[in-house]
Amino acid sequence: MLPRVIMHNMVSVDGRTVGFDADIGLYYELASCWEVDAHLTGADTLLLADDGATDADDADPPSAEPDVADGRPLLVVTDSRGRLRNLRALRAMPFWRGLVVLCSRSTPQPALERLSAAGIDTIVAGDGPVDLRAALEQLRDRYGVKTVLLDSGGTLNGAMLRAGLVHEVSVLVCPCLVGGATTGSIFRSADAVTPPIPLRLVQVEQVRSDTVWLRYEVAG
Ligand SMILES: NC(=O)c1ccc[n+]([C@@H]2O[C@H](COP(=O)([O-])OP(=O)(O)OC[C@H]3O[C@@H](n4cnc5c(N)ncnc54)[C@H](OP(=O)(O)O)[C@@H]3O)[C@@H](O)[C@H]2O)c1
Repeated sequence: MLPRVIMHNMVSVDGRTVGFDADIGLYYELASCWEVDAHLTGADTLLLADDGATDADDADPPSAEPDVADGRPLLVVTDSRGRLRNLRALRAMPFWRGLVVLCSRSTPQPALERLSAAGIDTIVAGDGPVDLRAALEQLRDRYGVKTVLLDSGGTLNGAMLRAGLVHEVSVLVCPCLVGGATTGSIFRSADAVTPPIPLRLVQVEQVRSDTVWLRYEVAG
């Protein structure tokens, strides 16, 4: 069985993922209600939060293999194009027990060598973009991952949704409107999917005076 994937996002009332002051503390406080084995995010989410790290930052001594007895989740990142440079900083963060980068057979060789030299685990799946289903299977088989928090923007969410890999959608609706013609939403896709992905409401909760938490199961 594939890992259960919970897509968790904080949005404006008009469904935008950026352009407002997200309450990150509340976002992760609520996310801790799931005992997940991995956090899955996209390279762009990390690049947009970049700390200015360079190639040299990845040249640290190799880290230990992720310790399965450590209760913290793994951080898993899609990066088939080898764009990430901030791996040392990520690995040093206390939130995760280890870092796994999802690559593909099109990932540039220098990027793979950089990851190997830094002792960072990789999963190679797919020929172009990461084959997300195959990557989830390897996360299950190699690391015992049963539950994943999808903590990303609309692009990776969109790829996961279109591949039918999301089981639950959790949305924190913040009291603001952002607008904009190109502002990110939680489900980016070149075209609308037809038919729409049906959802079944499982929880509605007012979590701050004006913030609402909605949880849905992906139906079918
Ligand atoms: N409000 C919220 O809850 C929330 C949460 C997280 C992030 N964000 C915001 O969202 C923004 C980033 O979102 P984003 O949508 O630009 O990027 P993203 O969600 O980080 O997605 C980009 C990643 O998706 C991968 N990808 C794209 N298409 C794919 C496919 N068909 N198959 C497999 N992988 C695929 C890309 O892989 P490659 O690298 O391999 O090409 C890339 O790593 C940031 O501003 C961040 O702050 C908001």
